[in-house]
Amino acid sequence: MQIAPSILSADFANLERDLQRIATADSAHVDVMDYHFVPNLTLGLPVVEALQRVSPIPLDCHLMIDDPDRWAPAYAEAGAESVTFHIEAARDPRALAKDLHAAGARACMALKPGTPFAPYEDLLEVVDMVLVMTVEPGFGGQSFMADQLPKVREVREAIKRRGGEIRIQVDGGVSASTIEQCAEAGADVFVAGSAVYGADDAAAAIDQLRDLATS
Ligand code: DX5
Ligand code: ZN
Repeated sequence: MQIAPSILSADFANLERDLQRIATADSAHVDVMDYHFVPNLTLGLPVVEALQRVSPIPLDCHLMIDDPDRWAPAYAEAGAESVTFHIEAARDPRALAKDLHAAGARACMALKPGTPFAPYEDLLEVVDMVLVMTVEPGFGGQSFMADQLPKVREVREAIKRRGGEIRIQVDGGVSASTIEQCAEAGADVFVAGSAVYGADDAAAAIDQLRDLATS
């Protein structure tokens, strides 16, 4: 069970300090948005390169961008431990996963809430993680969509059938009151933005989420 706090809810004027606040987490989730794939803009490669230099924990880059085939490998080359592309935006996901591996990162495919998993099941052959979005991508602090849990179960069943060490990440509205249902459905990597950075003690919030996910 891994906790990946999202720095979307961090103070963008104090990113180094706010990475230190989550040093006990498994990775730092970095939301890259381009104003095209989602109606919001956050940060891009130069900032990720800078974060990589100072982060006490690995970076997990979630690219909510158009044309990930073109842009995603550079995030792997910058040193991100895992790079997530949206399946709705990728032209050739197999080739992209291969490029990410060649650049030294784990490859992850993300599904928006309206995107079914079944048409993409064969891609379990080439990805290391599937991100099931539990909000519409674009903004932190939205309400958890419990109607995505059947998709988490479906992905977990497919992974069991095929074997292999593929993780399932959930992202959006994950908190102390929703994380247990995610774990029960089969998720094992939990992104939490407002639930961690909104807490007075981020380390305590991370511990609590990890305990709930494991129980
Ligand atoms: C939403 C982002 C999330 C976001 C989650 O598009 O992908 O990572 O930061 O924030 P919370 O945990 O506040 O829903
Ligand atoms: Zn995210």
